[in-house]
Amino acid sequence: DRDAAVAQVQGLIRDIPDFPKPGIIFKDITPLLGDAEGFKTAVDLLAQDLQGPMPEYIVGTESRGFIFGAALAYRIGAGFIPVRKPGKLPSDVYACEYQLEYGTDALEVHRDALGQGARTLIVDDLLATGGTARATGDLLRRLGAEMLGYSFIIELGFLNAREHMTDAPVHSLIQY
Ligand code: PRP
Ligand code: MG
Repeated sequence: DRDAAVAQVQGLIRDIPDFPKPGIIFKDITPLLGDAEGFKTAVDLLAQDLQGPMPEYIVGTESRGFIFGAALAYRIGAGFIPVRKPGKLPSDVYACEYQLEYGTDALEVHRDALGQGARTLIVDDLLATGGTARATGDLLRRLGAEMLGYSFIIELGFLNAREHMTDAPVHSLIQY
């Protein structure tokens, strides 16, 4: 059943203490990716949990969002749109800066990635502060996309990111 499937996925996520900095416990998804059944279960759960109209596009954020986003797009028969770190996309882009703990970073998307009103779902491995997801949402708004929601494998609920993500439903498989 669903609880067993979620437990299988959770069991394949490894805690790495003090990475990348002392005091931070890194959620390492590489054991999940390397497990054929576990990876399939994770992507199938993301697909099963979709409600309402199906996305025409999955939007994945470089780089871990590419892994689950592309797999989900294939699974449900949607297109895949990469949101990339600066300077990687070759055609005209929109860019959105967002805050890091120290300094800023930016994300870019092709201006012609989709048509006005196209149904989109943002996918990433992890929701932490929400900076990455909100920047991706901003880019989709500038494209004129219809945002169906955000889906994550892992949500660090204690950071309360979803409080600041009121533009579309936020879904996660596993909460810490
Ligand atoms: C990680 C993770 C999410 C983001 C979540 O990506 O894959 O994209 O952080 O953090 P936030 O909610 O505080 O923005 P990272 O920027 O480390 O890069 P990567 O995906 O290329 O590993
Ligand atoms: Mg990432």
